Amino acid sequence: MNQKIRIAIDGPSGSGKSTLAKKIAHELGLVYVDTGALYRAVGLYVKRAGADPAVGSQIATLLPQIQLALRYTEEGQRVILNGEDVSGLIRTSEVTVYATAVSAIPSVRKFLLEMQKRMAGEDSVVMDGRDIGTVIMPDADVKLFLEASPAKRAHRRFLELQAKGESVTEEEVLAAVMQRDKADSSRDVAPAIPAEDAIFIDNSQLDEAQTLSKALEIIREKLRRLR
Ligand code: DC
Repeated sequence: MNQKIRIAIDGPSGSGKSTLAKKIAHELGLVYVDTGALYRAVGLYVKRAGADPAVGSQIATLLPQIQLALRYTEEGQRVILNGEDVSGLIRTSEVTVYATAVSAIPSVRKFLLEMQKRMAGEDSVVMDGRDIGTVIMPDADVKLFLEASPAKRAHRRFLELQAKGESVTEEEVLAAVMQRDKADSSRDVAPAIPAEDAIFIDNSQLDEAQTLSKALEIIREKLRRLR
């Protein structure tokens, strides 16, 4: 493929971005970049350092100690934090809270910006996150904004956490989802808002296969018009 394809997928937590992005990557032969994993890895480092994730000045002093890399294996994207594969460790509810807090800190966003921009330029990619269509790939070929009702997203997340053995109630998960939506969309830097030219998919009533087929239909149509 001579010309690179770049697809941005944004949307709130639990909307199914990563599931969709992985399938699109597989279907179209693109590299899948999960940018939330980078914020999660920074969150994990901050948690281990015992720092307050809400205090920007504390976090800024830690950033030079952090080396992050993404590796691609048969199992998909792996996140390497200072040489350690932390891909599993960054998926807990506790680390999620740290990730949300550090993602609102301007120095953290700046720290991760260059790496994401570089990855966006190197390969044909499908990237998911919160500011992909607005900041990381404002010139992406296709920008999707994936949505689902808070109750639906909380239910999916609840099932995921339950399967991992975390003891939480669905009400707690819904409260956390709503809090995270508010924090992500109201922060000053790169808030999680749709790009002006994003195409919305609400998958509250769609299963994974239906969401994929809708997304592929939009992507193929958009690429046909561009090429
Ligand atoms: O997508 P996720 O749940 O793994 O994201 C974890 C946190 O990181 C979430 O609170 C939003 C934030 N994030 C962000 O601010 N920008 C991105 N591009 C990706 C994630």
